[in-house]
Amino acid sequence: MINKNRVEIVAVVGPKGGVGKTSISANLAIALAKQGKRVVAVDLDLGASNLNTFLGIRNPKYTLDDFVLNKVGKLEDIVLEINVKGGSPTFNNETSIDNIGFICGGNIPGIANLHYSKKMKLLRNLSMLEYDFVLLDLGAGASHNVVDFVLVSQKNLLVTTPEVPSILNTYSFLKTLVFRKLNIAFKELNNQKAIDLLEKAKDVDKNPQFKKMSDFITIIESIEGGVEASQLIRKTLLNLKPTMLLNRIRTVNDEKAGIAIQNLTREYLGIEFVKILHVHEDSCVGNAIARMRPVMIDNPLSIFASQINSIAMFLLRNFNSSVNMVLKRYI
Ligand SMILES: Nc1ncnc2c1ncn2[C@@H]1O[C@H](COP(=O)(O)OP(=O)(O)OP(=O)(O)O)[C@@H](O)[C@H]1O
Ligand SMILES: [Mg+2]
Repeated sequence: MINKNRVEIVAVVGPKGGVGKTSISANLAIALAKQGKRVVAVDLDLGASNLNTFLGIRNPKYTLDDFVLNKVGKLEDIVLEINVKGGSPTFNNETSIDNIGFICGGNIPGIANLHYSKKMKLLRNLSMLEYDFVLLDLGAGASHNVVDFVLVSQKNLLVTTPEVPSILNTYSFLKTLVFRKLNIAFKELNNQKAIDLLEKAKDVDKNPQFKKMSDFITIIESIEGGVEASQLIRKTLLNLKPTMLLNRIRTVNDEKAGIAIQNLTREYLGIEFVKILHVHEDSCVGNAIARMRPVMIDNPLSIFASQINSIAMFLLRNFNSSVNMVLKRYI
């Protein structure tokens, strides 16, 4: 059932609200399409979707509601093929950069707490979309829904702003991600002792002996089956490979926030970022939103557009043409 095509699922995620996930997703989709890649942008901010407005789409014919309510059989049935005309002042949904598909978010009551079986069906269908890139614009927070969409993605862009609350949220989110992944892995190992210790390690205030991931590994190694479990932890940490996207940078000091969070995650979680990407504060973002036009079209020569193009090039350089092995394990 897994798509053998070269689909690369990229989660655009950030636990703090309003850090720029949707602005990045919409414009990155266009930047990748301009490079000739087939892209589908998916609004997975369930219950609070708005990616359509960032792409200039007013009345979408289909939304995720149609899929969730079984009005259509497959996810591909609700992909809207949008054409975006570069540089045109009369941008609307009938014009033309090709290669962009769009799945509009759903807003039916309860969709934010998608039932497990529905979520699995959605994940399965996402992996089967016949595109080069599937970009997931995720909601804020660290709910199971958000975390699971990140876990099935080959790449994730962890969006944060340089402010301390946003950085701390990002750190907590990464920790949640690791713990959820380990929980699944320990269950597969059938190692109940490791699962119990993992549960304890979640609460470092109560159990300060688990303050750092390295402490946790040492403790795990001493239990029965601990060597296998500790190897799994190391492998999980190594495979996580998050990419940090520091958005709305205003000053040189802001740029240092990326290093600060890298140091924090390295020391306490044992996780290395693949890269720290920078996007600066740019008034063209707000202007474009007010006109319901993507920045890549509204102001293609802006600093924001050029930085988004650089991020697209980064993704293209690392374009992974393998079958989604992660999905194989989780679905
Ligand atoms: N680089 C930037 N420069 C200036 N403004 C920006 C930048 N990035 C985002 N913004 C502004 O931040 C606001 C929030 O952006 P956006 O909706 O993309 O965030 P979000 O993370 O998707 O929010 P939510 O968590 O609510 O889904 C918007 O008004 C947008 O104009
Ligand atoms: Mg958003």
